[in-house]
Amino acid sequence: MYAHYSAYVSGIHRLHLSTHFSNEVNESVMHASTVRSAIVKLDGTAITERDPSPIVHTSNYKEILEEAYQTEKAAAEIYGRILPLVEELGDSELYDSLEVVYFDEQRSVEELRMLMKE
Ligand SMILES: [Fe+2]
Repeated sequence: MYAHYSAYVSGIHRLHLSTHFSNEVNESVMHASTVRSAIVKLDGTAITERDPSPIVHTSNYKEILEEAYQTEKAAAEIYGRILPLVEELGDSELYDSLEVVYFDEQRSVEELRMLMKE
């Protein structure tokens, strides 16, 4: 999603948003790596399937920010639900690594909220 929006965002806000979305791509790849490592550590099988929700195609920065906001909010909610389950395992390294991801998602939600504010 972020790679798509980095390429398509248009208008004067492209100046900073294109780079911002590229950075979000890198963060997403890091998060995926953290989650993959956690799955491996728990003897699970990591799969590589994209979330089925479609990427809404637009170059309108307000629509893009709204899509990003909804996505980050959903991610923060999911990690918020996962963390108590991981805590029950008693593996503090695993918990800490996923908590970092959770905080990253929360920061993204707040940053997007501020970006959309008039
Ligand atoms: Fe995120």
